[in-house]
Amino acid sequence: MRGIENVNFKGKRVLIRVDFNVPLNQNQEIVDDTRIKESLPTIRKVIDDGGTAILVTHLGRPRGHEASHTLTPIAIHLTKLLSKNVIFDRELFSKRTKEIAKESEFGSVLLLENIRFYEDEEKGDENFAKQLAELADIYINDAFATAHRNHCSTVTVAKYFEKNKYAGLLLENEIKNLNKILNTDKRPYTAILGGAKVSTKIDVIKNLINIVDNIIIGGGMSFTFIKALGGKVGKSLHETDKIDVSKEIIAEMARKGVNIHLCTDAIIADKFSNDANIMTADADNIPDKWMGLDIGPRSIRNFAEIISRSETVLWNGPLGVFELDKFSQGTKAIAISVASATIKGAFTLIGGGESVAAINKYNLSDQISHVSTGGGAMLEYIEGKKLPAIEALNE
Ligand code: 3PG
Ligand code: MG
Repeated sequence: MRGIENVNFKGKRVLIRVDFNVPLNQNQEIVDDTRIKESLPTIRKVIDDGGTAILVTHLGRPRGHEASHTLTPIAIHLTKLLSKNVIFDRELFSKRTKEIAKESEFGSVLLLENIRFYEDEEKGDENFAKQLAELADIYINDAFATAHRNHCSTVTVAKYFEKNKYAGLLLENEIKNLNKILNTDKRPYTAILGGAKVSTKIDVIKNLINIVDNIIIGGGMSFTFIKALGGKVGKSLHETDKIDVSKEIIAEMARKGVNIHLCTDAIIADKFSNDANIMTADADNIPDKWMGLDIGPRSIRNFAEIISRSETVLWNGPLGVFELDKFSQGTKAIAISVASATIKGAFTLIGGGESVAAINKYNLSDQISHVSTGGGAMLEYIEGKKLPAIEALNE
């Protein structure tokens, strides 16, 4: 994988695959622009050199052209961030698009409409990729968060650029930091895993068992483990069909000498709502009609203490339903603990949309060694899988 630092893009048309798949609210306003901001250095490098940046991204998972998934709000926001006019093209391969790509003054930024409006994108279609490639002389992939997708704009297109393909600054930086967290010898090493489902994290946990000293488990997924250990979880979210694999994971951790830390107490509620009745209970003894929606104060103290002793911390997934204030204390406390550990010298890495949203909500992202823009891509990298978009740059 070659980086762009020493490349001069003067007079070149550069197709940059970015990941501007950012969360939007019902008014089509951007809720968190981290991914856009993180790609600005790559875009600026190209245009400051005197090249044309042709940006391609997806947004959401539209089926065909859905007005709710247009990149209009992104184009407007990008114009503000760059303090520069962004040419937004609603077509992909029209005569006009080709003209704009070819004839725009060097230094221009052109944003193509949501690439997932075209079903050929996800099919990795060769002809579609070829047409995309014809718009530019050079290809840069800066879309780390989509690097696990074998799609046209992330993989197929790269082969039409042979020697002229590069990793953008964001992508390079992500890989550097992920390699650091996977190969560090700064110990103790603690992984914090949360989120709703254990099913999406099984392979990650299996790989982390070989790497870390402690695994802290919170969020909905902890109840599958608690149930596997014979606890009563009431109406808490859990996956019955993952109980056996959870038992295997617990046994494997014991064999490898990895400490598993599950929440011992939980904030339980009689409904999934901010106006629910709540109380604190032992996490393995939740009454039938109640559900655990956050970790309790004892778990917070225990987890905070483990994190503060750690030299390396990897965090993915919230510890409770932090979007609802009543159940946000656990995630907030862990965010503060990870930030404090960083200040004391630990190397800390956070990834996954929800954990990043949490760290931003508490204004702590500056206090973390690396905040990854990747969710699924980051998890697959940690699982030890090869990411197709990165392979494509290496071919
Ligand atoms: C993400 O947010 O995970 C990436 O942008 C990839 O999107 P996808 O999961 O819809 O492929
Ligand atoms: Mg995803």
